Amino acid sequence: MAQIQWRLSRICFLVFVVLLAFVFYFTIFSNQFTSSDGLNQLQNYFSQPSSTSYEDYVVPLDEQLTGESRTYHKAEYRPSDSQEPKSHEIVILLASDGKSSGGKIPHMFEQCIENRIHYAQAHNYVFEYVNVSQMSVPPVWAKMPAILQTMIKHPKAKWIWWLDQDALILNTSLSLQEHILSPQRLQDVLLRDTPLRSPFSDDLTRKTPKEYSLEMVNTLGLLISQDFEGLNAGSFFVRRSPMMALFLDLWHDRSFRENNIADHEQALLGYFVRYHPEIAAIIGVLPQTMINSYPVGWEVMGWKPGHLVIHLAGCWVENRCEQLWNEYLERVS
Ligand SMILES: *[C@@H]1O[C@H](CO)[C@@H](O)[C@H](O)[C@H]1NC(C)=O
Ligand SMILES: *[C@@H]1O[C@H](CO)[C@@H](O)[C@H](O)[C@H]1NC(C)=O
Repeated sequence: MAQIQWRLSRICFLVFVVLLAFVFYFTIFSNQFTSSDGLNQLQNYFSQPSSTSYEDYVVPLDEQLTGESRTYHKAEYRPSDSQEPKSHEIVILLASDGKSSGGKIPHMFEQCIENRIHYAQAHNYVFEYVNVSQMSVPPVWAKMPAILQTMIKHPKAKWIWWLDQDALILNTSLSLQEHILSPQRLQDVLLRDTPLRSPFSDDLTRKTPKEYSLEMVNTLGLLISQDFEGLNAGSFFVRRSPMMALFLDLWHDRSFRENNIADHEQALLGYFVRYHPEIAAIIGVLPQTMINSYPVGWEVMGWKPGHLVIHLAGCWVENRCEQLWNEYLERVS
């Protein structure tokens, strides 16, 4: 009897060891699985617009996150347009409370609207305005719902260009496709092997890829630039895709600001980049002066004749906003 019991316990032990080996094996195996191919495929799926219906993946926002919107410039479908993306698939977005931001510049809002219409007309882009006064979130956190709302309203859009109100489009002869958005152009200009700066990373270990294939370019969802502080959310491009709708939805989650993780949307983006490699992987970094030149700054940041955009970031520090705004308004070509 005792011998049988002893044998049974030996068998139990063996079974246990074999099970343990299985669990160990599958844990390692499944880790390998999540690291590359599977996620790449998922990312591919998420970054491609659906071919059957445009409207199937952005769900309506809660009412208190929606502002009054107005399409100041409609784009027309042009069958002969062979660009990638086509011009009517690009939406320029301004969202504000309609008052002058920062330095209280008279007529800034009207002049800004005029500037965007002028550019949208020249290239057959859509220009959309969203009034954030009616949203129940602080203005800097209203960007993301405004973009989501624009994704719903413009289902044919492939890219949405967010540009702050304190920025002007100066070189209006540059087309967004040739200058930035065509996949071939992106492949040329995206910054490679470049540390992503953020208030959350002193270590600068998170870097952009060493090389970009066209496939990689097509999975990017957010194109942005960075200054010395980190990514700057004054000017960036968002792809209209399920992945980006999901990301924008999370990016304005109130718990981040209420728990003091980040006091504005730009800092939170830095947080995501530092702690979420899968989010870092959908961000393409452009040279700053391609989309977001500053009035002051060294070679890498400062405005020069011919640049697309001037962004009066930080002009309130020396109380120069109005002077600079009027100076650059003269330079719109
Ligand atoms: C934005 O909404 C507020 C509040 O509803 C309104 O007072 C303001 O005139 C609106 N601004 C624009 C530019 O539509
Ligand atoms: C706009 O940019 C193009 C391309 O870089 C350049 O050829 C042109 O001179 C620029 N226009 C102005 C007014 O600077």
